Amino acid sequence: MSYKSVNHIDILLIDDDEDDYVVLRDLFSDIRTIRYNIVLKRTYQDGLAELLTGRYDACLLDYMLGEKTGLELLHEAQKNRVRSPIILLTGHGDFELDVRAMQTGAADYLVKGQITSNMLERSIRYSMKHAFDMEELRKSQEQVLRQDRLASLGLLASSLAHEIGTPLGIIRGRAELLVNGNASADEVKENMSLVITQIDRISALVKSLLNLARGKQSEHAAAVNLSRVVQDIKNLMSHELERKSIAFEMGVEEGLLVRAESGPLAQVFLNLLVNSVYAIEEKNKDNPVDANKISIIAQRRGARVEIKVTDTGGGISVENIKKLFQPFFTTKDIGVGTGLGLATSYKLIQSWGGSIEVESKLNLGTSFTIILRAP
Ligand SMILES: Nc1ncnc2c1ncn2[C@@H]1O[C@H](COP(=O)(O)OP(=O)(O)OP(=O)(O)O)[C@@H](O)[C@H]1O
Ligand SMILES: [Mg+2]
Repeated sequence: MSYKSVNHIDILLIDDDEDDYVVLRDLFSDIRTIRYNIVLKRTYQDGLAELLTGRYDACLLDYMLGEKTGLELLHEAQKNRVRSPIILLTGHGDFELDVRAMQTGAADYLVKGQITSNMLERSIRYSMKHAFDMEELRKSQEQVLRQDRLASLGLLASSLAHEIGTPLGIIRGRAELLVNGNASADEVKENMSLVITQIDRISALVKSLLNLARGKQSEHAAAVNLSRVVQDIKNLMSHELERKSIAFEMGVEEGLLVRAESGPLAQVFLNLLVNSVYAIEEKNKDNPVDANKISIIAQRRGARVEIKVTDTGGGISVENIKKLFQPFFTTKDIGVGTGLGLATSYKLIQSWGGSIEVESKLNLGTSFTIILRAP
């Protein structure tokens, strides 16, 4: 369905009363500005099947449909994500029904016998415009989510390539040494144990990645092992942190559970950590210090779990703090940041019934407090 440049409008009328059809057809024929093609279906089943084809610009739906009601059909249409706007027709003015129709997703509500052609034209035009706007909104939201997923996937991929590249290089070097040289038994033992350590490091990384990926499929919040998620993130980032001389403190009791989704929760922490590393690096550019630190500390507080992610970066100005959770707010260069990290985190945490807040002092550092429910 397209809202713009229409020369005719396809209307599906679902109504078991032939008289209604005749009345509506006459009303439509009085509208001169545009041509309407009306298809009539008389039963719940036929009407629903026709609606699901997605061919119609709008649907007029009778409230009384034999055994079933228009509300039931509306409900079914919602479940099947029908995008055509549906206007409910009823024989009597009933405010409560009107409210229920709107709640079930009706675009509008017209009382039979009181409908004029102007009213009909206007109702259809507004409903179509609204459906068009909703569709545009849905598309742009989808795009935002896709971009964000791509951004974090890219981040993961590059950090993983880096993380795995180092131990692979060590393994290869040691293996070459053993193949080419004539090492003593002690040297063989020493080199091989180093190889084993590096293989374990790769295994831990792969396991972390699997944990992150597995959680992605879950649609609903459930009990998530917070210590494992944080440990996985730590494994992914530890090399990077070491290389940049940033100390990392993890204070999460083993087996502490929170209500969330593990993949997205890992993304939340990953973004916070990447932000903190960036803030610390930026601060060090102007004013290098050795005491760089990031910590993740969790504490159970009754039915809630409080998680504090704190860094010793350059902090955030009062001006910027207000915009922090807005989508696309970033102080980073194009290609470095998209400004979606915190906006996405905020939405995710909210969807799990939690909250996220920030406290920051310029030149001293920043602390994010996430509160999640204990499951
Ligand atoms: N720990 C922090 N210390 C200082 N500034 C921060 C910190 N965390 C976030 N910010 C500021 O908030 C902005 C928005 O962060 P957010 O994570 O939403 O987006 P981004 O990091 O810029 O981009 P993306 O996460 O999409 O790659 C950052 O550009 C930065 O200016
Ligand atoms: Mg970020």
